[in-house]
Amino acid sequence: MINLTVNIKEKFKSYPIIINDNDIGNLKSEILNLLNDKNFVVVISEKVEKLYGKILGFEKKAKFILKDGESQKNLKNYEKILSFCLKKHLTRDDAIIAIGGGGVGDIAGFVAASYMRGINLIQVPTTLLACVDSSVGGKTAVNSTFGKNLIGSFYQPKAVFINTNFLQTLNERIFKTGLGEVVKYAFIEKSCDFSEDINLINFLEENYQNILACDTKILKLLVNYCLLLKISVVEKDETESNLRKILNLGHTYGHAIEKITKYKKFTHGECVVAGIIFAFDLAFKNNLIDKNYLFFMHDIIKKFNFKKIPDFDLKKVISVMKTDKKSSSEFIRFILPVGYAKVNEFEFNELLTIS
Ligand code: GLY
Repeated sequence: MINLTVNIKEKFKSYPIIINDNDIGNLKSEILNLLNDKNFVVVISEKVEKLYGKILGFEKKAKFILKDGESQKNLKNYEKILSFCLKKHLTRDDAIIAIGGGGVGDIAGFVAASYMRGINLIQVPTTLLACVDSSVGGKTAVNSTFGKNLIGSFYQPKAVFINTNFLQTLNERIFKTGLGEVVKYAFIEKSCDFSEDINLINFLEENYQNILACDTKILKLLVNYCLLLKISVVEKDETESNLRKILNLGHTYGHAIEKITKYKKFTHGECVVAGIIFAFDLAFKNNLIDKNYLFFMHDIIKKFNFKKIPDFDLKKVISVMKTDKKSSSEFIRFILPVGYAKVNEFEFNELLTIS
């Protein structure tokens, strides 16, 4: 078992992250021990419910089952979950337990943030992406017709329970979407201001076959390494006013591709990988990195055999990138590599020239 702690100093708030591969049948009692007899509602992904509902053992009447897919993270479902909690008479001392991928964590997290102005939230991520990224750090959101994650808040969970056994039943595409975020952490490591040298790039080079084979021991280490980096960043900048922006490597371009393809054709991780490649090309063209590092990045990405994303009309992509939360009407902001596992933020105008 690995125990991590997130310390948000400004809020005098800290919470544990428990990473283990215990029997999934024990998870309910692990969570309820922490909740100390509080009342709760479980928001669970439909897929996870089908695969693990029985063994998890939560009562049917306490469960809100959410269909899977990005389109479910909408205001209608947000309201339905709120009403479900109201019908269950949850009070401010009670809890919402989110069991599923990033979508479930995001919408259940936003309900927890707003229900009676804030109720306890337990995150139980069941996809690699949610384990290494979205379940930690307090970003919660729903989508609007105007775009992804436009309505939300920063709201930290009370605890995160990661059981790597859930990862064994992910299909290859969903597993790899998480690997897209893992690769991102490798290329930003030295900018995360973490006190130790993990050398995640090296770890990926040495262990990519075991990672792809879902080796439990290696996956636990991998999740631990990514989260050590994420915690280091989030503790210093909870609300993304500064350092946390580096977590957006690959996301400005990636989000634009997701939007152009209506969130249907490619997964988030596939788009992030395309965004990382775009960021490296842009950095190379602007002499921020040399050719060797560019080739090195391609070698690492090749090892994981990500689904290729075709080139899109750059003009169109640029116009969409200008609407990104991170950009302004004048500038498009990118996180770009500047050296081995190091990144920085840059502003570009619409001709993609550094401003
Ligand atoms: N997923 C990026 C962040 O949490 O800031």
